[in-house]
Amino acid sequence: MTAKPFTSLGAYPRIRLRRNRRDEWSRRLVAETVLTAADLIWPIFVTDGAAGREDIASMPGASRLTIPALIDETGRAAALGIPAIAIFPVVPPALKSAEGDEALNPENLVCRAVAAVKRAHPGIGILCDAALDPFTAHGHDGVIRDGYVANDETVEILCRQSLIQAQAGCDIIAPSDMMDGRVGLIRDTLDAAGFGHVRIMSYAVKYASGFYDPFRDALGSKSSLGRSDKRSYQMDYANSEEALREVALDLAEGADMVMVKPGMPYLDILRRVKDRFAVPTFAYQVSGEYAMLKGAIARGWLDDRVIIESLTGFKRAGADGVLTYFAIEAAERLKAG
Ligand code: PBG
Repeated sequence: MTAKPFTSLGAYPRIRLRRNRRDEWSRRLVAETVLTAADLIWPIFVTDGAAGREDIASMPGASRLTIPALIDETGRAAALGIPAIAIFPVVPPALKSAEGDEALNPENLVCRAVAAVKRAHPGIGILCDAALDPFTAHGHDGVIRDGYVANDETVEILCRQSLIQAQAGCDIIAPSDMMDGRVGLIRDTLDAAGFGHVRIMSYAVKYASGFYDPFRDALGSKSSLGRSDKRSYQMDYANSEEALREVALDLAEGADMVMVKPGMPYLDILRRVKDRFAVPTFAYQVSGEYAMLKGAIARGWLDDRVIIESLTGFKRAGADGVLTYFAIEAAERLKAG
């Protein structure tokens, strides 16, 4: 052997971490984290528009789907083993108002979509946001009183919104509004109406983020919001202790699952939440993250292997699952192996 010992303690390293990395089989054997289709929730936009699907400029590859197209695509997701989808309604401007009244119409787009998908694919889980932003003319998640999103009044509306969504067949209510105290009152409302089985996945830690813009584009709420922002209710991205308080409260109020959002710049938060609470914890790889990766892949600046890499990163950081616009693509890749 020509190599010289490089420490005084013994021979040239006996411990070589590269041994396990040498071959595909041993890499697989020692892998700590495995991503499967069962880890994915697919967020989809639904529209009453005339075409079957409309492109979203800032989210290439994602579309606004009509209900029949949504049913077809949900079938694909189910066949790929994706356990749940999240449905977001694109509400026409004529139906938006200051108070977001359309959110409480049991025949609104999201309720019709939920009922139709449930009928066609009873085995897949359906998640709906509790928040008013798809329905408000100003694009905020609640009602505005004296220039401020009024907490308690908004929560009352969210309870009613959650109930009509549950009545339509929604399986998971996901309050995404960041009002204080909403999880507990939504739980009470659902329980009192006989929907004790409906789960709550709270957007417990939701930051006021620039990464949501393509989503707001998809919904048409970006122009409504204009130069306004959501910093008086969504969290300051400078904070992480506060994130733990948010999760503790939502769990105490009865949340079954919690979420951290956005995803990739917030993996530290995900890890802290999982370590501290050890409850079902989800990450949302949001529209801006999707747009960044898609945009770079489309230009050939990144290889599309980054899709699985980014999703595996969430699991490694402690996520039990990920909401991602890549869900179908990722599940197809995982299936292909
Ligand atoms: C609505 C809501 C938003 C997202 C999910 N639910 C946007 C917002 O709060 O402004 C963002 C999702 C994404 O960017 O992919 N409250």
